[in-house]
Amino acid sequence: VVHPGNGRTAYHFQPAKYWQNDPNGPLYHNGLYHFFYQYNPHGPTWDVGKLSWGHSVSGDLVNWAALENALDPTAPFDANGCWSGSATVLPGGRPAILYTGIDADKVQVQNVAFAKDPSDPLLREWEKPSCNPVIPIPADVTGNNFRDPTEAWRGRDGLWRVGVVAEVNGVGSLLVYRSADFLRWERNAAPLHASSQDVPVLECPDLFPVTAASGASEGLETSASGAGLRHVLKLTDFAKEDHYMVGLYDDAADTFTPAEPERGDDPGNWRRFDHGHLYASKSFYDARKKRRVLWAWVDETDGGGVGRGWAGIQAFPRAMWLDGDGKRLVQWPVEEIETLRRNRVGGVEWVTEVEAGGRKEIAGIVSSQADVDVVFEVPNLEEAETLDPKWLVDPRGLCAEKGASVHGGVGPFGLLVMASGGDLEEHTAVFFRVFRHLDTYKVLMCTDLTKSSRKEGVLKTSYGAFLDVDVEKNKFISLRTLVS
Ligand code: FRU
Repeated sequence: VVHPGNGRTAYHFQPAKYWQNDPNGPLYHNGLYHFFYQYNPHGPTWDVGKLSWGHSVSGDLVNWAALENALDPTAPFDANGCWSGSATVLPGGRPAILYTGIDADKVQVQNVAFAKDPSDPLLREWEKPSCNPVIPIPADVTGNNFRDPTEAWRGRDGLWRVGVVAEVNGVGSLLVYRSADFLRWERNAAPLHASSQDVPVLECPDLFPVTAASGASEGLETSASGAGLRHVLKLTDFAKEDHYMVGLYDDAADTFTPAEPERGDDPGNWRRFDHGHLYASKSFYDARKKRRVLWAWVDETDGGGVGRGWAGIQAFPRAMWLDGDGKRLVQWPVEEIETLRRNRVGGVEWVTEVEAGGRKEIAGIVSSQADVDVVFEVPNLEEAETLDPKWLVDPRGLCAEKGASVHGGVGPFGLLVMASGGDLEEHTAVFFRVFRHLDTYKVLMCTDLTKSSRKEGVLKTSYGAFLDVDVEKNKFISLRTLVS
């Protein structure tokens, strides 16, 4: 049962009801965007043994139409669940899915499914050939951890590759398999990545090329190769969530050389797409707008959706590209989201000054959905506090320690969103603080959830990071916030 007003969100993707987790097999094909996701068609909780692939289509990544499930656990090789995987369009235009099946003996195996009728624009039906599983679990895999195939890509030798995460003798690894026909797959002896000893389990890998040219925001097809590109390797770790490393992928040896080897083999020390809460992200190449787009699952922090009848969102899609430094990605919500803008509030005539400790209401927002663009002018940095260098490695801890209400030299300043109750006692603060550090300034950005709900038992943490903005030169910081 779907209860109207049961806390559903607006910018994020949600099925009509029940549980969803990882994004699976995002794809742009014949003019439509396809989105698949881990779905429990029987209820609002994750249910071992019951996972299907939900399926929706869209013309613009904003408005979605729900279709029948693409995959359900019906065959001996996936009888206990159709787990995460990816989609690849084969030459000639036939889409294929590689996914993890939990077989009749509860063993994790890799399966293939093909679009039954590639000329059906909705790709409603998928067939699973009887030669499945196409990749059985190898003998050196421990803990039954062998899953989540990446989108396949083609090397210059014409062979397909797919990455699968595996616990190889206790070590979280990314194995590469090669195939000429998408059915018979052979493991490459060397893993593309092997973690340090204390990371046995990895999930949901993603490997994709990005343009190395400075300032180029165009995305690349997953099989693209050549001199002017780098690859991004993303791995998910249950405790530390999603992290990525930029590097050089060699499509002959199927090896990856990280651009920042000093960050080590534990993906938990690599870079983050997002300093908030996000899991099992997956990207795809959008040929319509020539961009790389990222999807990611976010679960609730209040213990789940049993009472609401739904659980989990897919955060709004974002376009992503490599920054000029060749090490980190930059991103922006896909531009189609701006088509949702309706009633404009504020504007240049709304320039206002906020006193220290003061608040100013952005009047006129009547819905619980808002796309907020705000520019904070920071004319004077003289009062900035000096940064204790111990915080350089722990911006999140600094956000927690200082919160949004501890007065500082420059800041905190920012937005209180979803504010309600007398004296706005319930709110989420998104804010900045500026610190002096050596002969420069450091800008800290935080999200403070400590007052986000009056309910008990809700995770009320702080998130934060230092930003690479030259506040001394620019004298302003602009912030875009999607609230829903
Ligand atoms: C990640 C994950 C995957 C798995 C899927 C099952 O959230 O555990 O590793 O394929 O969820 O739903």
